[in-house]
Amino acid sequence: MNEVTTIDRTQREYSDAVKKALARKPQLYINGEWVDSSGGETIDVEDPSTGKVISSFVEATDKDIDRAVAAARTAFDDGRWRNMPPVAREKMMHKIADLILEHADELAELEAIDVGKPKGMAAVIDVPGAAAHFSYMAGWLGKIGGETQAPYSMPGGMMFAYTQKEPVGVCAQIVPWNFPLLMACLKIAPALAAGCTTILKPAEQTSLTALRLADLIHEAGVPAGVVNIVTGYGHTGGDRMVKHPDVDKVAFTGSTEIGKLINRNATDTLKHVTLELGGKSPVVVMPDVDVAETAPGVSQAIFFNSGQVCVAGSRLYAHKSVFDKVVEGMAETKDFWAPRASLDPDGHMGPLVSKEQHERVMGYIDAGKRDGASVLMGGDTPGGDGYYVNPTILTDVNPQMSVVREEIFGPVVVAQRFEDLDEVVKDANDTQYGLAAGVWTKNASAAHQIASKLKAGTVWVNCHAMIDPALPFGGYKESGIGHEQGRLGLEAYLETKTVMMKL
Ligand code: NAI
Ligand code: MG
Repeated sequence: MNEVTTIDRTQREYSDAVKKALARKPQLYINGEWVDSSGGETIDVEDPSTGKVISSFVEATDKDIDRAVAAARTAFDDGRWRNMPPVAREKMMHKIADLILEHADELAELEAIDVGKPKGMAAVIDVPGAAAHFSYMAGWLGKIGGETQAPYSMPGGMMFAYTQKEPVGVCAQIVPWNFPLLMACLKIAPALAAGCTTILKPAEQTSLTALRLADLIHEAGVPAGVVNIVTGYGHTGGDRMVKHPDVDKVAFTGSTEIGKLINRNATDTLKHVTLELGGKSPVVVMPDVDVAETAPGVSQAIFFNSGQVCVAGSRLYAHKSVFDKVVEGMAETKDFWAPRASLDPDGHMGPLVSKEQHERVMGYIDAGKRDGASVLMGGDTPGGDGYYVNPTILTDVNPQMSVVREEIFGPVVVAQRFEDLDEVVKDANDTQYGLAAGVWTKNASAAHQIASKLKAGTVWVNCHAMIDPALPFGGYKESGIGHEQGRLGLEAYLETKTVMMKL
């Protein structure tokens, strides 16, 4: 029971490559060069495993943002990227993917000490995933095109008409702190494939890997001004990007609250907007499951990345005939998920990203307890200087509780039992969110029936959080607008032009 308290959470020593990255001068990557900010403010980098400040980066000013937008605007308008032969752009994008993989160890470590995630997880998920976004989108370079189309209301032979695809233009891309490198690549890759130019702002909690990515994009030979990486706060730098009249498109991943604000702010200049927002994803466990397989699976659905995942399976609905066995099986994964320092090779879960998130998650757990929820596992912190929260299972919850309704973004699952299928589908859909959902069953017919009834952009059967560059990802309801990944993800960066010529 007390095994968790005996874990040594001392952080390991950083590698030389990481020490070098931490010692870099705080600068912005604008127009193909590292430049000083017009202001002198910086933001601290903290290692969430220790709470210690380990580096700092620039807090971009409005002037810095304007400079980055001007660079992206010029690079778009003069055609230095969009008019380059697709084969050359494809090669450069593959080169970026290769460079990411060549620097995999350093990038995984940087992500681990910045976000708090286990380095081993970053090495198998974040870094290869980041590279895959570039190689997948590179594959579209020779395949983007329109079509010829005969008009419907006009006589044949009167018109020659066709559509063509064109890049949307200058993009402002804003990403959160839970998968910083992966999200940066998920944003930049389709923009580059489409022929757009971009200004990317990582989250103020986690900017280390985005800055290293700028080095790699530079090394791959991407022309100046095509990709600009600016660091800073959302309500200042991010806001400036969203409202800037020279920006044509905004792509955002983050909270639903800020997503709505960004959508409003982008309206005056009628920018194209894609939003990937929050979730409170239900996981339905049917009576026929093999509990030995399902319990670790539904545990991973919530505890992976300390639950700081937009698609986290945070509402468990297990059929009453298997409920006790499933939650007992989940409780058996407690030592596996016990939080450890992010560079501990035995770790599967690290601390939360920041003190703020730690307070927020503990606040939800306390609210759940006050509202009458029972704590089946965790519900506390293991102590220490890092922002650790033990993996937590709450039972005896009801649909009015904030722990059931709101996105906690921590390792906290609310487990409920159900009796009939219609009831569980109704409960699963009783949320403002619609990002993802899971179903666990051996009954293929039930799986497809439930999948069709769940109001969610992605439904997983007998797995969770399986995300792939080829498959579109987007939210229903208040979980987002538009799609990323796959053909739809590319199209979000393309305009369609119709050309009609009278013969
Ligand atoms: P946030 O939505 O405030 O931050 C995400 C990004 O948006 C950051 O890069 C931030 O600098 C930027 N931003 C913030 N305000 C902005 C503005 N006015 N204009 C332009 N950009 C702006 O999320 P935060 O505060 O870090 O986390 C709060 C909660 O949001 C979390 O507890 C979690 O529930 C949720 N969240 C959801 C994510 C998801 O993947 N769906 C990711 C991160 C947070
Ligand atoms: Mg915020």
